[in-house]
Parts: sequence; structure tokens; C-alpha cells
Amino acid sequence: MMETTPQNYAIGMIGLGVMGRNLLLNLAEHGFPGAGYDRDPAKLEALRAEAGALPVRAVADVAALVALLQRPRAVILLVPAGAAVDAVLAELAEHLDQGDLIIDAGNSHFKDTERREAELGQFHLDFLGTGISGGEEGARRGASLMPGGSAAAFERVRPALEAVAARVGGEPCVAHLGPGAAGHFVKMTHNGIEYGLMELLAESYDLMKRGLGLSNQELHEVYAGWDAGELNGYLMEITAAIVIYPDGASGRELLDAIAPVARQKGTGMWTSQAAMDLQAPVPTIDAAVTQRNLSALEAERRGASLSRPTPPFQGDRAAFLRQLRQALYGAMILTYAQGFALLRIASDAYHYELDLATVARIWRGGCIIRAAALERFRAAFQHKPHLRNLILDEALGAELQACEAGLRAVAGAAVAMALPAPAFLASLAYLDSYRSPWLPANLLQAQRDCFGAHTYERVDAKGPFHTEWLKP
Ligand code: 6PG
Repeated sequence: MMETTPQNYAIGMIGLGVMGRNLLLNLAEHGFPGAGYDRDPAKLEALRAEAGALPVRAVADVAALVALLQRPRAVILLVPAGAAVDAVLAELAEHLDQGDLIIDAGNSHFKDTERREAELGQFHLDFLGTGISGGEEGARRGASLMPGGSAAAFERVRPALEAVAARVGGEPCVAHLGPGAAGHFVKMTHNGIEYGLMELLAESYDLMKRGLGLSNQELHEVYAGWDAGELNGYLMEITAAIVIYPDGASGRELLDAIAPVARQKGTGMWTSQAAMDLQAPVPTIDAAVTQRNLSALEAERRGASLSRPTPPFQGDRAAFLRQLRQALYGAMILTYAQGFALLRIASDAYHYELDLATVARIWRGGCIIRAAALERFRAAFQHKPHLRNLILDEALGAELQACEAGLRAVAGAAVAMALPAPAFLASLAYLDSYRSPWLPANLLQAQRDCFGAHTYERVDAKGPFHTEWLKP
């Protein structure tokens, strides 16, 4: 083990759950000795047990942790988002000195990050609100890291963060994304996209399982086949593995024994809420959040007397599978497009100065939404850095057009079979709306003016205008 004396540890870690432990071990393995603290003694023990010969120390209080760190100090927090973060920050602020740096690597709400940066600034402490994606495996073997806050503070820890990031084509999946809460906003949007993609995969599963009656083995073959092509991505890969995972207890596949009730920590919901605040349309993500909420109403769903059997699929099954593949690719592009468009709007509103090509670059590896298509999105934003929506990219627009027939066929089949597919339907409606110069909002304008004298604009003259609609 490397000689580590007091004040010789490069990084401190508060919160030694599996994410914190794994990140600390990853850092140590890459030449950044780390000291960790958790108030739970079992977690300290777990770190000691897993550390082996790596230069890692587990200590039982914050003061001891701080005493071990090189100056200026850098401390990473991996504690549950919310009140726990504020409690740890208050304690840390008492022990740190001016110029020290705190990195909140949890899934904190971006508004909390804004507030905390200001509060810690009063103590002259630097703060990087940093999203991390990739789960336990990513933390240990290479994650996607999304830091926001002071660029100078980022430079100080850049070598350590680059060392623990996943790498794609030699490039680390980390970059300073922008000031303030830019990093946590990007991570939140990542999770919103994650919800959208997961829901689309769940709907495709339902269409094939209840709709076409495919066995789990057949489902595996379909997903594995898709993963080998343009739909390649981490969520596709794990779905292919999940559908055939055996269950010792029931003798069936485990998936068939899992209750159809989705839980959530809520970051997808935050994305929908933040998008609504910015009037940024993210309908596929909204649909995904809503479906999780509907799934949770299990007792009500069971009790609803309106249930009826799924009408059998009528048509060519092989052709339907080809259409579903197209539909999934199109809807996934549209989900990413909504997420990136939200980032564009948020960056303008909150002055994040996001470079969307960089965001696409660091999402290519390590994170949950990594997929082959990210390379395409990066190229689109490199080509036009101010592109407002991926739909407007020529190459992606052409691909979407090629998917359109499949998307429309799948939407129609889902409706006919009475299988809920709101994420597919929302994606298609987003495409149909986004590229339509005309929407029936003229009627909405007229209605508002009629009942509330809210005025309207005309297509043929400068306004505003008001009409006494109900007076002869
Ligand atoms: C990631 C994940 C991670 C976590 C989500 C799960 O990027 O590694 O997104 O952050 O697994 O918080 O979110 P829900 O509990 O809301 O599904």
C-alpha cells in the first residue's frame, strides 16, 4: 500500500454507499488516494474490506476526514439528494478553509445547487454541482460526469475526474459544462431522457408480448438483434439480457414474476416540471413520468371494471417487427431531441452557456443513455453549434422521415390492440407538430380573446387585435 500520511490524500468522500465506495476505489486505482467518511460504521467496514491494497482510508468523522486531505482540499459528496446534502454541507463548512472545494455528485435538484453555490460562496468555498451517471458499475469502472460551477475549480480536479470517467475513442466522458447549476441541470435532463427511452422500450415489450404473443426467448432475440444495429445502446443491451434472466423461485423468467409497478426517485418528474417552467415541450418524457404514476395505481387498475381483453394482432408479424424497429429508432431520436432542445432553452434562460456537442460527447460512454446514436447527435451539434433541435439536422431529419411510416403503423396498431403506448404516440405527435407550420392554435387564440379579451395576432397584419366575438 502506498505511504499515505496525514494531509496526503487527494480526495475526500462523504457518503460511502456503493456509489461513493466505488468512486473512491476507482480514484485510488488511478493514482488519487482517497479518504472516506460515512456515519454508518457498516459502510466504513465495507470500504476497508473492498480497498485491499489500494490507498484508501475510512474514518469515522468529518474532522478526521478533513485532516487527512491535501490543501486546497477537494471533498466529494455522494449522499441522498435533499436535506442530507444540506446537513453535510453545514458540517463541512465548519471544517474547511477558504479555497477548498466541495463536489456534490448526487442527483441534487438544480435549484438546490444554485442556492448551495451561493451559500458556500459566503464561506469562500468552491462548489461543483456534478451529475454522475452509470450506476455502481460506472462509478467503479468509468462513469459519465457532468460538472457545473466554477471553471477554475473544475481545472483543479480535472485530472481526477478524467481518470474515473469512461473513455470513448480516447476521450474522457467528462467536461466542464457551464456555470452554476449547469451540471445538475444536464444530469436531470439525462434522467428525463432515460425515463423516455425506458418507457419506449417497455411499450415495445408490451406490444410484442401481449400484442404479438412473443416468448421471452423470442423477445431476447429481437432486442439483441436491434442492439447489434442502429438501435445499439446500453438500455437496449440490458433489456435483451433482462427478458431471459431465469428465476430460481418460480422456474420462469424473473421478469414475469416482477410486479408491474414502477418506482421512482423523481428526477424524470423534475425534468418535466423544469421543462414546463421553461415552456419547453418534452412530451415523451411527460408520458413516461405519467405512465410510472399510472403503474403505481395498481389497486385501482385491478379494480377497474372497464378492462377488456387485448384484441389479437391482425397482420404480418415480421412486417410489424420491422415497423417496430423503425418506430423505436424514430421515437428514441425524438426523445433525445426533446432533451437537447430543453437544454438549449435552459441554457439561454439560465445562462449555462452549454455546448451541446460536448454534452453529446460525454453521454457517449459511461452513462445510462449511452447509445450509438449519440455520435450522430454530436456530429449534428458540431456541424451547427446553435442548432435548436436535432429534428432540424439534415441527416437526422432524413432518418426520421425513413422511420415515419413505422412509427405511424405502430401507433395505429397499439391503438387498435388497446395497448397503451403513450410514449410512441407522444413522440409521433411531437414530430407532426414540430414540423407543421400550421397548428390549430388560431382557435385557441380566438377562444382566449372571446372569453377573456386576451387579444390575438393576425397572419396578415400587425396586432394585437381584439374582437367582441359574441356581439352581433
Ligand atoms: C444514472 C441513473 C441514476 C439512478 C436514477 C434512477 O444516471 O446512473 O439515472 O441516477 O439510477 O436516479 O432514477 P429513478 O429512481 O427515478 O428511476
